[in-house]
Amino acid sequence: MKKTVIGRLACLLSAAALLAACCGNKDTGSTVSVIKTDVPARPDGQENVIGLRTDPIDTVRIGFVGLGARGAFAVYRYTNVPWTKVVALCDVLPEKVDNSTNFLVEQGFEAPAGYTGLEGYKELCERDDIDLVYICTDWAHHTPIALYAMEHGKHVAIEVPAATSLEECWALVNMAEKTRLHCMMLENCCYDFFELTTLEMARQGVFGEILHAEGSYLHNLSDYWDDYWENWRLDFNYRHRGDVYPTHGLGPVAQALNIHRGDRFETLVAMDTRSVNGQASFNAKKERSDYFEGEEAEAFRNGDLTCTLIRTVNGKSLLIEHDVLTPRPYDRMYQLVGTKGYAAKYPVEMYSLRQDGLDSLGIDYHIDNQHAPLPEEVVAKLHGMFPSPILDDELEEKAKKVGGHGGMDFLMDYRLIYCLHYGLPLDMDVYDLAEWCCLGPLGEISMDNGCAPVEVPDFTRGAWKDADGFKYAFADGSMK
Ligand SMILES: NC(=O)c1ccc[n+]([C@@H]2O[C@H](COP(=O)([O-])OP(=O)(O)OC[C@H]3O[C@@H](n4cnc5c(N)ncnc54)[C@H](O)[C@@H]3O)[C@@H](O)[C@H]2O)c1
Repeated sequence: MKKTVIGRLACLLSAAALLAACCGNKDTGSTVSVIKTDVPARPDGQENVIGLRTDPIDTVRIGFVGLGARGAFAVYRYTNVPWTKVVALCDVLPEKVDNSTNFLVEQGFEAPAGYTGLEGYKELCERDDIDLVYICTDWAHHTPIALYAMEHGKHVAIEVPAATSLEECWALVNMAEKTRLHCMMLENCCYDFFELTTLEMARQGVFGEILHAEGSYLHNLSDYWDDYWENWRLDFNYRHRGDVYPTHGLGPVAQALNIHRGDRFETLVAMDTRSVNGQASFNAKKERSDYFEGEEAEAFRNGDLTCTLIRTVNGKSLLIEHDVLTPRPYDRMYQLVGTKGYAAKYPVEMYSLRQDGLDSLGIDYHIDNQHAPLPEEVVAKLHGMFPSPILDDELEEKAKKVGGHGGMDFLMDYRLIYCLHYGLPLDMDVYDLAEWCCLGPLGEISMDNGCAPVEVPDFTRGAWKDADGFKYAFADGSMK
């Protein structure tokens, strides 16, 4: 017994010593072993695009590139989005273009122009009657197509993750700054109803100062690996370690933490498990198809589960998880931990506040058990008090009717087009895109170097200090 206690004490002491060596001395502020990342100088003549406003567009003319599961569904959603016209469609496969064209014609719309092949998007981007290129291809093609579209004067909206390397993140930032065009990542999870209301509560200070947040993408994809064009998704996981799909978890909580609007990610550390189910998925795929022919056998890079911890300049922490390989129920975690309150969406939605917080809101409820979440009737009152400024009853009803993950996809599309129509700054800019997408490549660097801390580059090159909190833009000129 005594031996065990001494053993534990020794373990604790050596762990504490290691921690001190790695983290440095808090009093002197010294740190060791942080892997530095480059912040390339902003090209001459360029300025940041924070708060970018462009000329209002009466009817936003759209070209869709990538018409697989996600892209074809986006075309359907856009038949319900005001101020839009689908002008052109493109996919490698002619039948995908035909399917979406037939759908539009059946719905009474004019047949759009069609482009096929791996480089058909170039002709689409070269047209002079398109305002927005909407990209829903596999990950490898997102950035090249977006760069080409911006070079040809088009705003771009790109599915998640828009970029998969630091080079791609910087290329998109630089191109958006050079062309002064919008480059938005289609992070639909920022528009789910619980997240929208909770963000409003956070912005109104209901939770006090948010100190910690969690987000994740836990989605068992074992039934879907065969559905992706040319095996792109399993292939990417085979070749890359790290959180390769971080933005659903990270986007909504980054908004609540005002990332690059007064704070920014400073350092991260990532850890993964070994690959068991990933390797088995590779083996099974190789067995039943020609994919992975000639590839090294026991080399699946992505761990079955990856955790990334981020610290911000203002001393906040975030935990982001990625797991598409174990049979866990779907979960995006979404937690906000504040000095005065707490919100969590999964596995069940809950809030807790301190008594003085409830009193100050005029909610007549006495908390008997501070360890329990608030009851439903109090949550209903809170939701009623903090509606998202981007929602009204009519829009909410329409979003739920059109659908797309319960309506959040439609809301995202609606806000994108609303802002382009009125010439307003978009809700999400190219810096959000880069900050959320860089988690994958930076985590890979961390883990390949013994889970060392890695510096998160400042994609705004200093401008993050100027903006004062996350805000939405409105046609009447207000920012709320
Ligand atoms: N936001 C969300 O909730 C959500 C959900 C699902 C998928 N996605 C994202 O949407 C994207 C597409 O996913 P998916 O499930 O539709 O994949 P998919 O494999 O079903 O479709 C990809 C399509 O892109 C086409 N394509 C590939 N390269 C192209 C090119 N150069 N030019 C034109 N077309 C090209 C393919 O032919 C295919 O039809 C991915 O980025 C994915 O991460 C997002």
